[in-house]
Amino acid sequence: MNHAAAVLLLVLLPACGGVRPSAPAAVPASAPLTPSPAAATEVEPLAAAAAPARLVGAAVQASLLRTEPAYAAAFAHQFDYVTAEFEMKWGQIERQPGQRDYGRADEIVAFAEARGLRIKGHALVWHGDSPAWLESLSPPEVRIALEDHIRTTVGRYRGRIVAWDVVNEAIADDRSGLRDTVYLRKLGPTYIAEAFRRAHEADPDALLIYNDYGAEGRGRKSDDVYNLVRDLQTQGVPIGGVGLQMHLDAASLPQAADIASNMRRLAELGLLVNISEMDVRVARLPGSLATRLEDQRRVYHDVVAVCVAEPRCHAITFWGFTDRYSWIDQFYGPDDPLLFDEAYRVKPAYNGVMDALRGR
Ligand code: G3I
Repeated sequence: MNHAAAVLLLVLLPACGGVRPSAPAAVPASAPLTPSPAAATEVEPLAAAAAPARLVGAAVQASLLRTEPAYAAAFAHQFDYVTAEFEMKWGQIERQPGQRDYGRADEIVAFAEARGLRIKGHALVWHGDSPAWLESLSPPEVRIALEDHIRTTVGRYRGRIVAWDVVNEAIADDRSGLRDTVYLRKLGPTYIAEAFRRAHEADPDALLIYNDYGAEGRGRKSDDVYNLVRDLQTQGVPIGGVGLQMHLDAASLPQAADIASNMRRLAELGLLVNISEMDVRVARLPGSLATRLEDQRRVYHDVVAVCVAEPRCHAITFWGFTDRYSWIDQFYGPDDPLLFDEAYRVKPAYNGVMDALRGR
């Protein structure tokens, strides 16, 4: 019996008319009243609970894999699917025209291959991290630069990267259709189809994905994504999947039933779906941190359970895995969005994901 249970039993016994024990020995101040949470490396791997039906991964940073043994160990123990948080993006690779640096991307690929982990490439075409020099090029020059980028990058990892986020976040937030980006301005709406075709030529076996946020449940943006990928299919574009990023705020969530029906309608197009960048912000929730982390556990559980129930939901990727490093802190402010805390210890969110993967 552990210490906490013993104290509870001692407290309850008199109320139960049992034998009144002598006053419990004073608890030394240093004794922890509750056991500290287990480390990520000490608990069951999420990937093991999900296999073989689906992959479970997280976004990682090359510099952290290189410099933080605890980060690398926690990731390698828990996951079987790797996404570079930023190192594979065009803006990070080709800062000057023709001068490509794949060093950090190669580090992540090497880390994954050394451990038999699958790799998702992210992201070939994204306005959020593209070379600044594109703006100064003519449309034909942009087309050539984009083709070179896709051919070189996908070709470099041919047969080693199983899936690519080919185009990321091309749908506008204001429901006006395609987002106004350098690609749309220079190449017109066909840039999306062209990017998928070039990627397929460079690696015919890779799963090619359209990835977006704010389109997880049902609504105009989700309809816009659905219509976009259906039109691409109609044109014979080699698209194989859709990534639903799942950057959630626990204070304003899509309905689980809407996520399920959205996944199902994409699956009925013959596409795979994946949860591609999941994190759950809780700073805006009322209550204590403990209460908010319990709410967070339920959100992670309910969303992962939707994926587990959808046969065509083949992968789940969290956008980071420790609250020590999350883009959320810079973008939204301090929060606790991920599965493990700043010291790589288990949070209730991890238990929510594990329970969902186990069908509990
Ligand atoms: O680590 C370096 C540091 O050494 C350097 O001093 C500093 C200044 O150059 O940069 C640091 O790297 C930055 C990295 O975040 C880590 O903080 C990169 O410059 C910066 O570009 C990078 O931002 C990433 C962002 O995409 C843009 O690529 C975020 O990590 C990443 O979480 C975010 O992820 C996006 C997805 O790709 C698409 N969906 C939305 C999601 C969140 O914005």
